[in-house]
Amino acid sequence: MSRLTHNHSDTAEATATMRAAESLLPEGRRLLVDPMARHFVRRPAYLVPARSAFAARLAVSLFDRWCPGLHGHVVLRARYADDAIRSTARAGVRQVVLLGAGFDTTAHRLPGAARFFEVDVPTTQQAKRDRLRATAGPTGSGRTPGGPHGSTIVDEAGGPTYVPCNFGVDDVGARLREHDFDPGAPALFLWLGVVPYLTPEALETTLAELRGVTARGSSLVLDYVEADALDRAAGHSGARRVERMVARRGEPLHSAFTPDTIAATLSRHGLTVNDDVGLGELAARYPTADGPRYRDGWNRVATAVAAG
Ligand SMILES: C[S@@+](CC[C@H](N)C(=O)[O-])C[C@H]1O[C@@H](n2cnc3c(N)ncnc32)[C@H](O)[C@@H]1O
Repeated sequence: MSRLTHNHSDTAEATATMRAAESLLPEGRRLLVDPMARHFVRRPAYLVPARSAFAARLAVSLFDRWCPGLHGHVVLRARYADDAIRSTARAGVRQVVLLGAGFDTTAHRLPGAARFFEVDVPTTQQAKRDRLRATAGPTGSGRTPGGPHGSTIVDEAGGPTYVPCNFGVDDVGARLREHDFDPGAPALFLWLGVVPYLTPEALETTLAELRGVTARGSSLVLDYVEADALDRAAGHSGARRVERMVARRGEPLHSAFTPDTIAATLSRHGLTVNDDVGLGELAARYPTADGPRYRDGWNRVATAVAAG
């Protein structure tokens, strides 16, 4: 039985920490501003870089050396997703589904862009809602402590629709329908930082279930670990470290792909890849004032569109 049945996801807290630390970097250097991310960080080891600008600078630089390619990927995929939400909203898409949302704050950062559905296992989802409520305070006023990175948190009434679901166990299509998702209208599905943790069987089942609620004009953005990065002899040092670290924390990696194998997997479920980028290209799309910050990665982000 997965650790996530009993505990919230530690990897969700780790990625929130990376977004919080990135938000504290100097203006011309940071790739993302996610002022709410720090509210979801509780683990003692993660607290300091999520709250102090000095510690954030140090932690990002040390982490980039210890585990090259991960921090850059996590913050750049969030930029990529924000752009996908804005561009699909301009095209009239009004539903955004965060699959394995974790402590993602997009629904609060871009509240008017669409109706947001957050799908995750009940444990992680409950931890997120508890932290949101604690941050909003007893009055539920939603005002959080100020400072340069203070933020306003929307309380539950204005927030996303939470859809509890364990991929590979529960039927995600059925769960979405039960929560007022409109399968006849196009949607943007974001599946970030989740596919590597699913077994190939759970991934296939979930894609098949999603197909039943995917209208023409919908798209899916996901990220995946590059298959050769995990090679025991010639793999990527960052990938191999993360593989060991997440396994120790009870969230082992189960799948990795090449651009061809992910495209083939998605096409079995009616999805055609129209963009697939590695870290170097992502960094070139979102350069900082002093140029692209990252080159060497082992994750890719892909977008696929549904013919319907
Ligand atoms: C690395 S975190 C990524 C969270 C978020 N998408 C982000 O980018 O920060 C992985 C997330 O996937 C969720 N997850 C993992 N396995 C899952 C499953 N079988 N069903 C639903 N959610 C799952 C975890 O609870 C966690 O929130």
